[in-house]
Amino acid sequence: MIGLFDSGHGGLTVFRALVQRFPHLHFVYLGDHANAPYGNRSSEEIVNLTRDGIERLFAQGCPLVVLACNTATAIACRTLQQEWLPDAGYAGHNVLGVVAPMVEAATQMPWAVTSPQYPQKYNTDSIAVFGTERTISSGVYQEEILKRCPKVTVIEQECPDLAGAIEEARPEEELDAMIGSYVAMLLENTRGKAPERVILGCTHYPLVEHLFVRHLPPSTRILSQPQVVADSLEDYLARHLHYADHPPETSQTSLLTTGDPDAVARSLEIFWPEPQIFEPAG
Ligand code: DGL
Repeated sequence: MIGLFDSGHGGLTVFRALVQRFPHLHFVYLGDHANAPYGNRSSEEIVNLTRDGIERLFAQGCPLVVLACNTATAIACRTLQQEWLPDAGYAGHNVLGVVAPMVEAATQMPWAVTSPQYPQKYNTDSIAVFGTERTISSGVYQEEILKRCPKVTVIEQECPDLAGAIEEARPEEELDAMIGSYVAMLLENTRGKAPERVILGCTHYPLVEHLFVRHLPPSTRILSQPQVVADSLEDYLARHLHYADHPPETSQTSLLTTGDPDAVARSLEIFWPEPQIFEPAG
C-alpha cells in the first residue's frame, strides 16, 4: 500500500490521479483536516505535523508515503528524509515529495542533474509559481529551477488565504475574486507579460484550476501537478518494485482524516460530485 499525506483536501487531487494511473495498487489517503491549513504555520509545526502524518501512514501498513502537499514537501521533506527517517526504526520505508517531480517537468532535467546542461542552459522561458506563504517564502521552486535553467525567469506569487478558503468550501465567486487578485498581482510583476508556464504549487489549487484558467492569459500553459506526480511515481515504482507489492486480500484504498469525516465529506461536495467517504484516522 502507498500512503498519501496532505494538510487537508488538496492531496486528493494527486490521490485521484494515482488511483486512476495505478488501478492495481492500493492507496491510503490521510488528510490532517484538524490542523489545516499548513501554509502559514511555523517550520517546527509543519515538520512535527508532517512526521505525525507519515507515522500514522506507516502504521497503516504503507512503507512508502508521498507527501501530496507542497508546503510539507518544501518545509519538512528533506529534514525528515535526512535527519529523522534513517534513525527512526523504519528500515525499508521511504517518503517522497511533490516538488522534485514538478522541477523535473518544468526544467526537463532529471533531479539528479543539478547544473545547467545544453539545451536547457539556454532556456529563456518564464515560469510562474503560485503557492502558500511558506512554500513561496522557502524559495524552493525558484532555487531548484534556476540551478538547472539559469536563464529562466521564475516569478512567484503567494496566495496566503486560498488553501484555507478551499478547505472551507467558500462560494465560487469568492474563490474566483481571490484568484483574480493573485493573478493580477503576478501580472503586475511581469509588467503584463504572459508567463509561458504556470506551476500551481499547492495541491489544493487544481480543485479550482478552471478559475486560474479564467484569469491567466490564454497562451499560458498550466503544468498539472497530479499528472506529473503520477508520471514520476510510475518511474520510481519501476525502479523500486517492492513498493508496488501488496497482499490483495488485506489491502484497501481508503480515505482517512484527523478531522470530522462528515464535515470533510460535506465541504468536498462542491469540488467532487461523487461522495468522498472519509473515516476517522483514529
Ligand atoms: N495542499 C497543500 C500544499 O500543497 C497545503 C496547503 C495548506 O495547508 O496551506 O501546499
